[in-house]
This record gives sequence, C-alpha cells and structure tokens, in this order.
Amino acid sequence: MISGLDDVIAAETALSDVDGIAGRLVIRGQPLGQIAGRLSYEDVVSLLLSDLVPDLSQGAALGAARMDVFTRIAPVMDQLARLDLYDGMRAGIAFMPDGVKVDDLLRLIAAPAVLTPLMIRLQAGQAPVAPDVALGHAADCLAMLGREDEGGALARALDTYLVAVCDHGLNASTFAARVVASTRAGLTSSILAGLGALKGPLHGGAPGPVIAMLDAIAADGDARAWLKREVAQGGRLMGFGHRIYRTRDPRADALKAAVRQLGCSAKSAERLAFAEQVEQTALAVLRAEKPGRVLETNVEFYTALLLEAVGFPPDAFTCVFAMGRVSGWVAHALEQQATGRLIRPQSRYVGPVYAQAR
Ligand code: ACO
Repeated sequence: MISGLDDVIAAETALSDVDGIAGRLVIRGQPLGQIAGRLSYEDVVSLLLSDLVPDLSQGAALGAARMDVFTRIAPVMDQLARLDLYDGMRAGIAFMPDGVKVDDLLRLIAAPAVLTPLMIRLQAGQAPVAPDVALGHAADCLAMLGREDEGGALARALDTYLVAVCDHGLNASTFAARVVASTRAGLTSSILAGLGALKGPLHGGAPGPVIAMLDAIAADGDARAWLKREVAQGGRLMGFGHRIYRTRDPRADALKAAVRQLGCSAKSAERLAFAEQVEQTALAVLRAEKPGRVLETNVEFYTALLLEAVGFPPDAFTCVFAMGRVSGWVAHALEQQATGRLIRPQSRYVGPVYAQAR
C-alpha cells in the first residue's frame, strides 16, 4: 500500500531535519529549542534563505515588504472581504506578482501577516490598519489587528510561534510547494499550492477544531467520556497524532512554554490548566483505544492555546500558521528550483484491463 508515500524520501534538503523517533526538529543545523523564543522571525527567515539568496541581509527587511503588500491589496480589499478568512488571504496572495528578486521573495513571505489582520478587520466591519515598517513582523501583525500589547508579551509569543512552525521537513504543504516549483511555474504559484494543502484539517486546519473540541468538552463536563465517544465513533482527536513523530512533537513543548510565559489573566491560566487536563486524558484514551499506535500531542494542540491567548479568532488560526510556514515554502521552492529537476513520479495502474479488439 503506497497511498500516503510513508517513508518515501522525495527530496534532499539543507533546511530542516525532523527526527520522529527522538522527537527532534533541527532548522539549518540549530535545534528548535535554541531558536524558538531566542531568534526573531526575521532572523529565521534570513537563516532559511541563507545560501539560497546570497544578497539577503541579516534580519530580513520585512517592514517594507509588508507595506508593498498592503499597497497592492488596497484596490481589491472590498472583494476580498466577501470571502471567508482563509480564502480571502489566499486570494490576496494570488495578487502578488511572480519574481526572483529579493523584494519578490520578501513580499510573498510578508503577505500572510498583512492579509490575516486585514481580513479579520474587514470581516468585523472595521477599517484596515496600515503596516508600520518600523515594527517587528509579529508586533506589526498585532498592531494591524488593533491589539493592545503593552510590554510586547503578545508579540513575543507570536514571534515564538512563527519561528516554531517556519519549516518542518517534507510536510504535505511543503511537498505541494516543491512540486509546483519543480515545474518552474514561479514562486507565487508554489506558495498558492502550499496554501491549498495547508488548509485541510489533517494538516494546518487542525488548531481551530482544537478550540471547538475543548469547548465541547467543557460544555459536556466529562472529558474522558467525551473523548472515548469521539474515538469510538471513528473521530480524530485534533492536536494528536503525527505521520512522522512517534513521540511528543517538540514544537508542542516550545509553544506550551510560550503560553505559560504569557502569564496574563486568571482566565487564561484556567484555560491552560483545563487544556493540560484534557491533553492527559486524551493521551490515556488514545493509549487505551488505539493500542497498536503511538499517538502523542502534536504542534496544533498548543498552537490553538497560544493563538487564542494572543487574540486571534479560531477561524484565523490556519492563516497564522501560513504566516510562519510561508518562509519554509519559499526556501524549499528555491531549493527545488536549484535542482533543475521536474518532480514527476509514476502511478501503478490498477483499473480494468482493456481487451483490444482483433
Ligand atoms: N485521534 C484518534 N485516532 C487517531 C488520531 C487522532 N488524532 N490520529 C491517528 N489516529 C488513528 C487512526 O484512526 C488510525 O486508526 P486505525 O488504525 O484504528 O484505523 C491510526 O491512528 C493510524 O492513523 P493514520 O491515519 O495512519 O495516521 P497518519 O500518520 O496518516 O495520521 C494525522 C497523521 C493525519 C496527523 C493524524 O494523526 C490525525 O488525523 N490527527 C488529527 C488531526 C491533526 O491534529 N492534524 C495536525 C497534524 S500536525 C500538522 O500537520 C502541522
């Protein structure tokens, strides 16, 4: 059975290494724990693009790129506002021209961070807020959202999140982006392919449903019974399980630490404590109900808590994921293009045999 390409190595990359047995993620030679919460997203963009884009300065200048995106989107804002959040963001990115200069790459990397707060505000009937080029990428995204952030704690948490999800081996959306890059269709097309794959609930669409799951369990009042019922009915517990990790996803702990550092209100401390209880109960239920399978917490469980605490609505969570992952897609697309090789696997025909008339 080859339906999920499990264990197939389909690319060589110098960008990130996922060790699913040890539970380790390394970005350009640096373990996640050494960069998440320590380097800014801008620095990690430079790290990912180093070698691939030689004339890129340290701490990629994303401010000017955000302003460029905002200016290009301004004439079509009203049309985007009619779409739902994710589709509006994706449609906005389709307006970004293809190109191979540094400015073209940075514009694509900056685009989700402009379009996400813009779409949230437009849908709430609020006026858009233009970027402030002097701010850091995460801080400006929150400013465009109109979120108060005295002391910058929320921006630091968002920055940690963006770094934690910037790249992750040959995940489904990165693979999609590389396939399109291999056809030489251009970077915008590659990013749109990545965005298409990310949307699904088995990939980047999971964190919104994590909040729905937590709310349903809180309303029910009996976590164990709710979770058992869900698994017995063939449902998947959102935020658990992974194709590669056979242990806890290292990003889950980086994000949990960031949520904890936020401290904030008694309400968010209560929410975190509740989520931790649900997590432990879910792991126990999964061990009992799926004994042959190692199902651990994945990145999406604490993503949901972090993005909720930072103030994003659940239907924007996948857009925020794209905000971080877009740098990985761009880097992989450039890496793939440099190979000059079209990705074109084969299929095995298993349909009816055509008997040729004599
Ligand atoms: N809850 C309950 N059962 C699960 C879960 C889950 N979260 N994940 C896998 N299983 C079960 C499957 O039902 C299957 O059971 P069966 O053998 O009795 O039929 C078994 O575990 C194996 O499942 P597969 O589909 O082979 O596992 P796969 O490696 O393809 O799945 C995936 C990985 C898609 C992430 C899966 O674990 C899942 O659906 N999780 C929930 C959604 C989620 O959290 N997605 C985010 C992933 S992280 C990311 O993409 C950034």
